[in-house]
Amino acid sequence: DNVEFNLFNRTTLFVCCFKYSTCLQYFLNGHYYLKSKTGIIYETYCDMTTDGGGWTLVASVHENNMHGKCTVGDRWTSQQGCSSVFPDGDGNWVNKVTFGNVEGATGDDYKNPGYYDIQAQDLSVWHVPNLVLMENWKKSAIARYHTNSKFFPRYGGNLHGLFQHFPLKYKGGVCKTDNGPSIPIVFEKGDAKNFKEMYGPETYGETEPGYVTFRVFNFEQAALAICSGVKMIGCNSEHVCFGGTGFFPEGSPKQCGEIAGWDWSGYGTHDRWSATKTITESTVLLFYR
Ligand code: G3P
Ligand code: CA
Ligand code: CA
Repeated sequence: DNVEFNLFNRTTLFVCCFKYSTCLQYFLNGHYYLKSKTGIIYETYCDMTTDGGGWTLVASVHENNMHGKCTVGDRWTSQQGCSSVFPDGDGNWVNKVTFGNVEGATGDDYKNPGYYDIQAQDLSVWHVPNLVLMENWKKSAIARYHTNSKFFPRYGGNLHGLFQHFPLKYKGGVCKTDNGPSIPIVFEKGDAKNFKEMYGPETYGETEPGYVTFRVFNFEQAALAICSGVKMIGCNSEHVCFGGTGFFPEGSPKQCGEIAGWDWSGYGTHDRWSATKTITESTVLLFYR
């Protein structure tokens, strides 16, 4: 009867659509349902055209207010103020807390179970202007690049594992001896040199283009999560890298927050230590394959 029919259809739907744990098996760009190893079903976006496809969106880092210094919305640093009382910040790089939604990923922070569940080989990064709609992410991105050296298995299989190996902790190490790995990248949109020059002119002497770098300390021993597009050769990393601990001593609390050191010489001015307005007002989307 009808009930059985509905049950049958539901089972079929369940089997057909929720069985994969990464985007590897799909064909078209867009949103899909995935199932984690523990059986949690979640929605995400798959990029099926970059370098053969198979890229799963696992997180986005969004700055909601440059004037809020480690306040509400600063999930990738600290929402509890800029203080050495919270040397690990909110800890979202290493925990299994999830937040946000896929369609809202350029309007607020996003993290799905894939972040810790998918055993990945490579990372892909898009910088997409804030509030751009999902269907336009790819064409509107100001830059898109990925690694291709299959580096993740050496560092715990994904960002969740990598940051267990390289903890984000204020005073957990010093610049530059304790900085984490720099992995070479290939750009699909944009190029390494132009991208590096989106950060403040004073940072040009402190970065080398063509890498993505993890767990970097600055002069004051704050730890930053990711330096996008560059390797740090200097220690004013707060003007280049994003995410990290809950305490940034220099000018406290001025540098605290997801990208809060990026406006050190004015908001979006691209003067001295400040990044361009374009990159300042873009969300970072993180994909695994
Ligand atoms: O990170 C830059 C800071 O350490 C020095 O800033 O403005 O005194 O050159 P400033
Ligand atoms: Ca945020
Ligand atoms: Ca500094």
